[in-house]
Amino acid sequence: MKTIAFYSLKGGVGKTASAVNIAYLASQAGYSTLLWDLDPQGASSWYLAGADRIKGHKLSALMKGKSPIADFIHASRYENLDFIPSHTSFRNLDVKLDQNDSVNLIKEWLAPLSEETSLVVLDCPPSLSRLSEQVLKADRVFVPVIPTWLSLNSWGSCGPLPRITNSNPRGCALLRHGGSAQESASGTD
Ligand SMILES: Nc1ncnc2c1ncn2[C@@H]1O[C@H](COP(=O)(O)OP(=O)(O)O)[C@@H](O)[C@H]1O
Ligand SMILES: [Mg+2]
Repeated sequence: MKTIAFYSLKGGVGKTASAVNIAYLASQAGYSTLLWDLDPQGASSWYLAGADRIKGHKLSALMKGKSPIADFIHASRYENLDFIPSHTSFRNLDVKLDQNDSVNLIKEWLAPLSEETSLVVLDCPPSLSRLSEQVLKADRVFVPVIPTWLSLNSWGSCGPLPRITNSNPRGCALLRHGGSAQESASGTD
């Protein structure tokens, strides 16, 4: 099981569009894929739920170890593609993460799915927080960058985080609007 994250400090750069489309393409290529909508705005849940109204669950039961992660997963209308819908309580995730010292909580929560899931795609909220620190521990972190100064600045601000968190993500900038993909200085392969 590989975990990839679409992350940026900046909103409106294409995290959700990338996450949903990559998850869809992976699922249609035969990979059992799970998209986790970590953004309380719930845009990717909306894309995947379609006309169905799906109510996400508070994560507190998962965090307390009372409910397995499987209880949070919904099937999408696409084969091989499941998702964990967002919930407004996700806005408190940072506070919860702050109360936990575990090294890689998201990885721990996802571990029971490793047999049946090939790819986990994290659609992240635009923040620099405890949640981002967790997310930056994914196997790959993709940072969509559009050609504006604010977007480029937010790419720059992703750099110090791996050193702060002592993790080793392989960051990739996705340049939108005709640019080519470029790997960051922290990328290894
Ligand atoms: N590659 C792209 N080219 C043009 N427009 C895009 C592209 N990716 C996303 N968009 C549009 O940009 C807007 C913001 O995208 P979104 O994925 O919601 O950003 P984020 O998740 O970073 O806030 C949306 O209207 C989306 O349709
Ligand atoms: Mg989004």
